[in-house]
Amino acid sequence: MNRLELVRTEIDSILLNQENVNVRPEGYIHLYGVAQNCTLLAVKRGLDVELCTIIGLLHDIYTYKYEYVKDHALLGAVEAENLLRDLEIFTDEEIEIVRNAISHHSDKKTKHDKYSELITDADLLHNSLYMASFEIKHRKRLKKILKGLGIKIKLKKFNEEND
Ligand SMILES: [Fe+2]
Repeated sequence: MNRLELVRTEIDSILLNQENVNVRPEGYIHLYGVAQNCTLLAVKRGLDVELCTIIGLLHDIYTYKYEYVKDHALLGAVEAENLLRDLEIFTDEEIEIVRNAISHHSDKKTKHDKYSELITDADLLHNSLYMASFEIKHRKRLKKILKGLGIKIKLKKFNEEND
């Protein structure tokens, strides 16, 4: 089994052990959806594709494991670090990239390193695609992501009532 498959097995086991059955599909859709966006953006930006996909798979693991959203970026970064360390197949440098990126992913206003930017963008893109409307907060960032993918569209103004 390759490293990506091993991480997926861990994710699946966490989601299947989530007692709230409504949270399980949300977790699968969001974590796997964001991970695919990470893969795509990593190819486009010339970053490590495997590592970026793993960042996507793990980025909200705290939320779906414990149903706890507050501070989930920082708490999830520690959770992801422990999970990867226990697998004993990642270097310290790789684990640090993942930990650092996950810790920053909720901060959509500040610019961080390339991996942190990638997961922040992949997350935002997933939310906009899921709603199929591109009608979300942080329109400026979304416009830049889409432009980077060669997509130019007029974004609708975000309506707080639909949030
Ligand atoms: Fe997310």
